[in-house]
Amino acid sequence: MAGKSKSAQGKTARSKSAAKSGTAKRGNGAAASGLAAIVLAAGKGTRMRSARAKVLHELLGRPLVAYPVGLARELGASPVVAVLGHQLEAVEAVLGARFGEGGVTVVEQAEQRGTGHAVRLAMPALDDFDGIVLVLYGDCPLLRRQTLQELVGTARRYRCLAIVTSTPANPTGYGRILRDSRGHVTGVVEEKDATPEERALTEVNAGIYAAPAAFLRTATAGLATRNAQGEYYLTDIVAAAANSIGVTTVDADASDVAGINDREQLAEAEATMRARINRHWMTHATLRDPGSIVIEPDVAIDVDAEIGRNVTLRGRTRVGHGARIEDGSILVDTEVGAHAHIKPYTLCEEATIGAGAIVGPFARVRPGSDVGADAHVGNFVELKKTVLGRGSKANHLTYLGDAVVGEQVNIGAGTITCNYNGYEKRQTVIDDGAFIGSDSQLVAPVHVGRRAVVAAGATITEDVPDGALAIGRIPTTHKPGYADAVAARYSEKKASAKSASASKKS
Ligand code: UD1
Ligand code: MG
Repeated sequence: MAGKSKSAQGKTARSKSAAKSGTAKRGNGAAASGLAAIVLAAGKGTRMRSARAKVLHELLGRPLVAYPVGLARELGASPVVAVLGHQLEAVEAVLGARFGEGGVTVVEQAEQRGTGHAVRLAMPALDDFDGIVLVLYGDCPLLRRQTLQELVGTARRYRCLAIVTSTPANPTGYGRILRDSRGHVTGVVEEKDATPEERALTEVNAGIYAAPAAFLRTATAGLATRNAQGEYYLTDIVAAAANSIGVTTVDADASDVAGINDREQLAEAEATMRARINRHWMTHATLRDPGSIVIEPDVAIDVDAEIGRNVTLRGRTRVGHGARIEDGSILVDTEVGAHAHIKPYTLCEEATIGAGAIVGPFARVRPGSDVGADAHVGNFVELKKTVLGRGSKANHLTYLGDAVVGEQVNIGAGTITCNYNGYEKRQTVIDDGAFIGSDSQLVAPVHVGRRAVVAAGATITEDVPDGALAIGRIPTTHKPGYADAVAARYSEKKASAKSASASKKS
């Protein structure tokens, strides 16, 4: 390791002046863990060419800023201070929704005057904190927890500035790491300020730091803007540490520390994350064609589950032990029970699929639906806010909306719950063991009793008592000999028309 803790200089210094152009919007107490974090996310992200702030762009369904904030929280950092500027309200709302009100302390950086300026503004929110501060950039979603643990451990052990470095194939755009003849880090030079010799260096600054709070306070207070961009560079703290508490580097894989600046990098990072997540689940589940499968970071998959080609698992989806999700299915915030079977091209959202249930192919299970254990939902069946009891079946071309269906009920093909009268949604209740004949309409609110039978083609507008048969169809009448009579009538007509036209011609 290059460089070690040299002194504890600046340990008790405070920088109150830093708060001048920034506003601490929410504060919370200092940490018990001895770790705090600052996430820089005030920039616009010009190269995204987007109306949306860069850190709000999503990678596998999660906004970029949520990755470093989530990691910092997983490591026990408290508080986590987010420096926001561009679209502050929108970013704050996303953080609030994901991490809870007060889960993140927001500091405003109204004008983006550089990474060093951003950290300086964050320091008053850590006024009574004297542990280790982790500094992360909001556009760096592929960071690994192990890298940060090593970084924080290093800063803590040596009371030094610990920085993550990397050697990417193409270092263009990154700050370069400067080392002396003994290999000790002496500073970081930004590409725009670098000499041709410095630009030829391949070791770069990943923009991830851990340091004692006291050092960070003093060092950011002392920053100046004498550089090509006229900004307060956070990277200048590296030279300051080299002359005081010492600098230690932690090396990381270039793909783990890649910053996202444009949409091409966003796509590349998403592919990297996707492969990483898929590899993780393949330790105990079968992924048929991992390159075509999308699994978002908050999904969980149990042992021996099988995921088919082109499957997308989103949000907080849970796939139970031995469950099978076949090709082309999309599950969003859905819980799939053990050994359930989702057949191809099924869409489920905010639903629960019971153990051993069979759903699809081509089924749509909408929010608030609960398919019971061993129940069957077949092709072209739509469920909305519907409970289908254990062992019940709705196998073909059916719409069940706002329905509560008991156990062992059979819903015939083409059944429709008419749940909407143009003004409000109303409920249909079908009790255990009932049989609904094909092509029936159940006009809600309506109740079909236990073991009641609805005859095919019925329109049910009144409650059906337990065990009763409800028929609502026009009786059939038979007319014997009809087909022959009609055929004879038409052939006579044809013959007379023919002879009429023949006599006209002659
Ligand atoms: C920075 C580093 C560079 C490093 C690279 C790694 C500096 C001066 N340079 O350069 O050495 O190799 O990251 O990716 O730090 N931000 C603010 N407020 C500001 C400026 C930036 O919050 O005033 C935020 C941005 O929103 C972004 C992050 O800080 O999330 C990094 O800023 P960016 O401008 O992308 O820095 P780089 O030029 O990439
Ligand atoms: Mg950047």
